[in-house]
Amino acid sequence: MDFVMKNTYNDNCILQKNTICSNLDLVQKCIDILINNGTCQESLKIVNFGCAHGRSSQPTLTTMISKYLKKHPHNEIMVYQNDLPTNNFSLLLSEIQGNPQSYIYLSPNVYTMCIGQSFYQQTLPNNTVHIAMGFNCFHWGTPSKILPEGSITMAHKRSKFPKYIKECQNDLLSNVLNRSKELANGGIFIMNLLTDDKESFKDTLDFYVAVKLIWIKMYEECIISKEEAEEMALPWRYYSLGDIKHILKDQKIKNSGMKLKSYEFRQNRCPYEPLIQSHGLEYFAEKFVSAFHAFSEPTFKSILKCDDAKKEQIWEIYNQHLYNLCLKNPSICRIPNNYYITIFEKIEINIE
Ligand SMILES: C[S@@+](CC[C@H](N)C(=O)[O-])C[C@H]1O[C@@H](n2cnc3c(N)ncnc32)[C@H](O)[C@@H]1O
Repeated sequence: MDFVMKNTYNDNCILQKNTICSNLDLVQKCIDILINNGTCQESLKIVNFGCAHGRSSQPTLTTMISKYLKKHPHNEIMVYQNDLPTNNFSLLLSEIQGNPQSYIYLSPNVYTMCIGQSFYQQTLPNNTVHIAMGFNCFHWGTPSKILPEGSITMAHKRSKFPKYIKECQNDLLSNVLNRSKELANGGIFIMNLLTDDKESFKDTLDFYVAVKLIWIKMYEECIISKEEAEEMALPWRYYSLGDIKHILKDQKIKNSGMKLKSYEFRQNRCPYEPLIQSHGLEYFAEKFVSAFHAFSEPTFKSILKCDDAKKEQIWEIYNQHLYNLCLKNPSICRIPNNYYITIFEKIEINIE
């Protein structure tokens, strides 16, 4: 499966950017904790996981860096931008250089490096980072062997699939343990984790089920195979509070020094819904479909087992079906973000 974002991601990430901007209060809190515990007196090192093409993380980075510079105006700041090796890092670097509001223009002492490596591995040397952050990315799971039938996301029938829950917990454990190695003592890890815990998840699910039905219809019309239709699912983890609490009991987490400082359930409305009123149905459908394609198209296309020309033909048909769904049933076409936002602190541990 191909997890990359489309090249249009920066222009279609309002949903993700809104989520980030709704959490700037906690981002500020992270810098306060660091400044208070004296962890980054010499310099500040930040790693931004799942950075994609960078525009949505600009508000977080400018908030953190401006706050830090008030206290340490001449210190050096290093930003490590992480994503999979398949990410288009050229687009990321163009955004960072080309955006006049970019974090790099806050001081001549701000530097950027790219790391093309999975966040399910250690990505930086031991004890080197002060802030690890990851927004809208840690729901992308490791490859799964479990795909509940009729599922557009693997969370579809979560409670009936104990193996799915185990996979979620293993991914979360791996994520937090890898961060524990990279973080210096006193370092902070802030992330949001999509959740299916709350009643409002139904809104998200209704849309994904409707998308799945499009792929099934395309199988019935002999446009794609049964296997392809069955495989059409985004390889996502939805974490429950139970999963978060479960990993905290793991001895490896206890030995790692990672302490959960805070967690909170938050949600953001789908930003495209108001366009129906303000700009009309067609404009809404266009924007909504572009936003959904920006993060789902490469994954769906990688499931199709045919040459590129054929893929484009199939995609055109799917695209038309999705657009029509938006026109006929706009109330189902929304992707609200429901998530837990968690802050971990790495504390020094003495193992005798
Ligand atoms: C929806 S984008 C989020 C981008 C940005 N953080 C935001 O909030 O808009 C998710 C990103 O996570 C990346 N990603 C998925 N799995 C990953 C992994 N195992 N390691 C590193 N990055 C990963 C994807 O390539 C993608 O760029």
